[in-house]
Amino acid sequence: MNCRFKQLREEVEAELHKIFDAHAGAPPRLLEAMKYSTFAGGKRLRPMLVTASAEAVGGNSAKTITTAAAIELIHTYTLIHDDLPAMDNDELRRGIPTNHKKFGEATAILAGDALLTLAFESLASPGPSGHNPPPEIKVRVIDIVAKSVGAAGTVGGQEVDLEYEGKEGDIEKLEYIHTRKTGAMIRAAVEAGGIIGGGSDGDIAALVSYGLKIGHAFQIIDDILDVTCATEQLGKDAGSDEGNLKMTYPALIGLDESKKLADKLIREAIESLAPLKGDTATLAAIAEYIGERKH
Ligand code: IPE
Ligand code: IPE
Ligand code: MG
Ligand code: MG
Ligand code: MG
Repeated sequence: MNCRFKQLREEVEAELHKIFDAHAGAPPRLLEAMKYSTFAGGKRLRPMLVTASAEAVGGNSAKTITTAAAIELIHTYTLIHDDLPAMDNDELRRGIPTNHKKFGEATAILAGDALLTLAFESLASPGPSGHNPPPEIKVRVIDIVAKSVGAAGTVGGQEVDLEYEGKEGDIEKLEYIHTRKTGAMIRAAVEAGGIIGGGSDGDIAALVSYGLKIGHAFQIIDDILDVTCATEQLGKDAGSDEGNLKMTYPALIGLDESKKLADKLIREAIESLAPLKGDTATLAAIAEYIGERKH
């Protein structure tokens, strides 16, 4: 494994623990449900993107750690809700039973709500590690993250994903869904990292271009893995998309064309990094990893 990935994952893991350690007042069972999914072993890709984007603009990456962890809390909430019976109705996530299978539907819904709220508290507060961006940067980041995960972003993408179950769709609609349900948060992660790192408008534009392309590729690969991999390898229910009659790239254009499109997007994403003056090696490695990932 890429050593930098391991280091970034450990840093975000430690920050997540600190956030929970400082989180007082939650009923024990709800807290248990929140931690159950958070510490189930995700790839931590979005937090890695936050930190690597600060590095790519030549900024102080230590200042990104609370933001990086907050974005992982939001991502974890989206997974818990995505798996609910009313949504994808899945039983396995991150290699263990889904939150609602373990704690029941009501607690799973509330654990998701609480993770989303804890994330915004973490973005706004001084944070447990004390590596704080200045207030005006924080407000900008909160604005970007809120817009990306709300009705015009992740939540809106999930809505249309569900509306199109079993319906005839087209590439334009599918792109609409993918860029929102998955791409928006990935874009916000790189944008947030670039802003905290002190990037110029030009730097942020390059990062956004990179983020949009890897975000799109990420969901195409996710759709491919759903068809080609076994449940044990994925750590989540394989074949879920077909079972739910989802509109996906493999269903619309076939597996080969889907992989070609993902590869093209990844190449273009890496090219988007060219104007950046900082260290872009980790962002480039993450893009390549997205193309090669097996779970
Ligand atoms: C899964 O995201 C949800 C999608 C957006 C497809 P990841 O594949 O990053 O899941 P974890 O965090 O590693 O579990
Ligand atoms: C959902 O996409 C993306 C979000 C969680 C917002 P999928 O439904 O394809 O994600 P998986 O495959 O269950 O991880
Ligand atoms: Mg889904
Ligand atoms: Mg799903
Ligand atoms: Mg999927």
